[in-house]
Order: sequence, then C-alpha cells, then structure tokens
Amino acid sequence: MTTSRGSAPGDGTDGEARIRPADRADLLGVFRIEKAVFTQPWPFAAFEGLLDAPGFLVAEGDADGHRGDRGNPDGAASIDAGDVLGYVVGDVTPNHGRDIGHIKDLAVRPDAQGDGLGRRLLRASLSELAAAGAGGVKLEVRETNDRAQSLYADEGFRPARRIPRYYGDGEAAFVMRLDLGEWVRERNADGT
Ligand SMILES: CC(C)(COP(=O)(O)OP(=O)(O)OC[C@H]1O[C@@H](n2cnc3c(N)ncnc32)[C@H](O)[C@@H]1OP(=O)(O)O)[C@@H](O)C(=O)NCCC(=O)NCCS
Repeated sequence: MTTSRGSAPGDGTDGEARIRPADRADLLGVFRIEKAVFTQPWPFAAFEGLLDAPGFLVAEGDADGHRGDRGNPDGAASIDAGDVLGYVVGDVTPNHGRDIGHIKDLAVRPDAQGDGLGRRLLRASLSELAAAGAGGVKLEVRETNDRAQSLYADEGFRPARRIPRYYGDGEAAFVMRLDLGEWVRERNADGT
C-alpha cells in the first residue's frame, strides 16, 4: 500500500486531508458527493461493487477539521473529522500480460475543490495501480470538462480518441491515456 499511513504527511494529523483505501462506511459520503457533482451520478451499488478495487481511495478531513495547507479561501466549508472530502475509483484489468489501469471516477466535495485534493487523490490512485501491476492507464472525460482535462493533461495523460455520444445526455468523451511506467519514473526523479 502506497497511501499515507502512520504519522507521515497527509495522515490527517498535520492539517492535511488523509488519503486511504475506501471502506463500506465511506460509501454514503462518497455517494453524496457523486450526486452533488455529476448530472448523471453512478448508482450506490456501483461503488459497493468496486470496494475491492486497488485504486478506490477516499480523502477524509483531519481531526481538527482542516483539509489542506492552503486552508479554505472563503471560510465557507464546514469540515468534521472523518468527513469524506473526495474520492477516486481506479481499477486494473488483466490484458494479455500488460494490465491496464482505469481511472473510473474522481470527485472532490464542491466546498473542498481547488485546494489540491483532486490531484493528490489522482496521484495516490495511480501509485496504487502501478503497485497492482498496471503498465498503462486510461480514463474517459467529458468533452466540456476543461478543469478535469487540465488536471489529467498536467499529470501526463494524453487524448487518445473521442467517442461521440458516450454519455447518456449525448455528450462526447475524450479517452485519455497515460504511460504509468514513465509517470512513476518522472515522479521518482522529481522526488514527489
Ligand atoms: C476535477 C476535480 C476532481 C479536481 O479536483 P480539485 O481538488 O478541485 O483540483 P485541484 O485543486 O487538485 O487542482 C488540480 C488541477 O485541476 C485544474 N483546476 C483546478 N481548478 C480549476 C479551475 N477552476 N479551472 C481550471 N482548471 C482547474 C488545474 O490544472 C489544477 O492544477 P493547479 O492547481 O496546479 O493549477 C474537481 O474539480 C471535481 O470534483 N469536479 C467535479 C467532478 C469531475 O468533473 N470529476 C472528473 C470526472 S472525469
């Protein structure tokens, strides 16, 4: 497991949200965020079915109700210890010896967005997918979701193809791909 444990930075004792594997008790909090941020949310059962996925992680508020070093810019967020602030669902599928990782879902609670949590969740899940043997990772993102696309591009994902009418409301998806081995080498070289 490569997510934060013990008293390392990001464990919830240093004012940073703690990132850890999701468990059943998190699912209501996860589902609440899913319904708040997506027009076509996954059903609750979809999250239940992915509890064992190696890259299904949650970020929870720390013991002092803080969420990050940058704090809350407008003071509007009310965060209690243990609150689910965001989640990422990543899984690995066997593929003829070159397992493929898939980032299936990523979301941060609206009042906790823009504070670095989405990037931390994505990176933590990618590390888990690498540890689980994935060589590459793919994801689908809405054509109009500039915010998510810019996060993915910044982490090294590149658009591979466009799928018209991928979503139920008719919007197209971009499939984006990442060479996970290269991503790990770059992170190691950066020391991040
Ligand atoms: C996409 C999402 C997960 C990002 O999480 P977040 O915690 O808000 O993002 P972060 O603070 O970690 O920012 C990461 C990057 O996202 C991009 N980003 C964040 N806020 C942005 C904004 N307002 N406009 C444009 N890009 C933005 C930037 O590239 C940013 O990197 P930077 O801070 O170094 O410039 C979050 O906005 C969210 O939950 N959105 C709704 C659900 C969704 O669209 N999920 C993705 C489905 S594919």
